[in-house]
Amino acid sequence: MNNIELNEKEQITAITYGDTFSLYDEKSFDEFIEPFYIRLEKNNIDKNIFEGKRCLDAGCGGGRGSILMAQCGADKVIGVDFSETNLNSCRERAKQKGFSNLSFEQHSLTDLPFDDESFDIVWCNGVLMHTSDPDKCLQEITRVLKKNGYLWLYVYGSGGVYWSMVDWVRKTLCDVDVKDCIYQLRIMEIPIRRIAEWIDDWFAGYLRRYTNSDVKNRLKELGFENAERLNYGTVYDTSQRRQVADEDEIALMGEGDLRYFCQKTGEPVGNQFRLPDNNGKGSLFTEPEIVLHLIEPLEEISKNLAILESKWGHPIPTYKIIVCGSIHRKVRSLLENEEQFDIQSLSEHLNRVNLLIKENTSE
Ligand SMILES: C[S@@+](CC[C@H](N)C(=O)[O-])C[C@H]1O[C@@H](n2cnc3c(N)ncnc32)[C@H](O)[C@@H]1O
Repeated sequence: MNNIELNEKEQITAITYGDTFSLYDEKSFDEFIEPFYIRLEKNNIDKNIFEGKRCLDAGCGGGRGSILMAQCGADKVIGVDFSETNLNSCRERAKQKGFSNLSFEQHSLTDLPFDDESFDIVWCNGVLMHTSDPDKCLQEITRVLKKNGYLWLYVYGSGGVYWSMVDWVRKTLCDVDVKDCIYQLRIMEIPIRRIAEWIDDWFAGYLRRYTNSDVKNRLKELGFENAERLNYGTVYDTSQRRQVADEDEIALMGEGDLRYFCQKTGEPVGNQFRLPDNNGKGSLFTEPEIVLHLIEPLEEISKNLAILESKWGHPIPTYKIIVCGSIHRKVRSLLENEEQFDIQSLSEHLNRVNLLIKENTSE
C-alpha cells in the first residue's frame, strides 16, 4: 500500500484516517470544513491571506485544509500525507470541487523533499501529535516555510474531561481491530463525522497532548517570535469554552485546544524547548479533582465488562464498542451544548450505563 516504510503504530494511524476520510460524501465534507471558517473569523484572521499563496497542507488527511486554502484563493496547494488512501481521497475531492491547482504527494513529515523556505503558508491541522516524532516534523514544516510566512498549527491540549474519557476508551478497546470497529459503526449507521471522530481518538497510533507553554516556547524558539494561541472557535472547541467559563468549566476543559496562526519572523535559536514526549503522553499535566472523579465510574464499567466477558467466555468487542460509543456521544453532546458542561448529567449517564451492564452480568 505504501512506498514509505511505516512502523506498526503508523500503519494503524494510516488505516485510522484513510478508512474514515474516504467515507465522506460531499455534503459531510463541506460540513467538516465549516468550523475552519468559523475559527478564522472568530480569531480575526482574514481568509484572503491565502490569496495567491503557495501553500503546504502538512498531513492533509481527506484534504479539507487543502480545499479550504484553494477556496480562499491559494495559487497552489501541495498536500502531503503518508497514507496513500488519503491521497486518493484528496485527488478525487479536488476533482469534484473543480480545483486543478492542488496536488497530493506521499511523504512523511519527518523528512520533506522540499527546499528551505519554499512555501508562503504551512497548514498543519491535527497532525503533529499523531506522528512518530512531532518535534522533528515541526522543525521540517518550519524549515520549508518562507521567512515571514505563516503557520496554521493545531495540536491537542492536555487534560480535561474529554481526554480522560478517550484514554479510558482506548484502554477498553485495545484488543479491538480498527477496521472491524469501522464496519460495526457503519452498520449501526453512526453518522460519518462521528465515526471519523471516534475512530481518530480511539485508535490513532500516537495521541500526545501538550500544554500551551510547551508549544508556545517551542514555536518562539523556532522563529515564530510572536506565537500566541488562538482562543476562539466553535461552541465545542475547548479553547472557546474556557473563555466564557467559571473555574470548574476551565478545569473540565483542561488546557483546551491549541491552535496557532503565527508568522515566522525570526531564525531558529536553539533546541532547549523540544516538544516533550513523556512515554507518548506529550506534556506533563496534573488533572484537577473534578476530572479525577470521573475515573471511578469508568473503572466500575471496566470491571463489569470484564465480568460479562468471563461469564460469556469470549471477547465482547461489539458490546464494548456500543458502550464506548454511548459514553463518547454523551460527552460530545455536552460539549456541543452552549450551556456550562453538565458534569452531573455525565455522571448520571455513566451510572446508568454501569447499572445496565451490571444487570446483564447477573441475569
Ligand atoms: C487527524 S488527521 C488530520 C488530517 C487533516 N489535516 C485534517 O485536519 O482534516 C492526521 C493526518 O496525519 C497523517 N500523518 C500522521 N503522521 C504522519 C507523518 N509522519 N507524515 C505524513 N502524514 C502523517 C495521517 O495519515 C492523517 O491523515
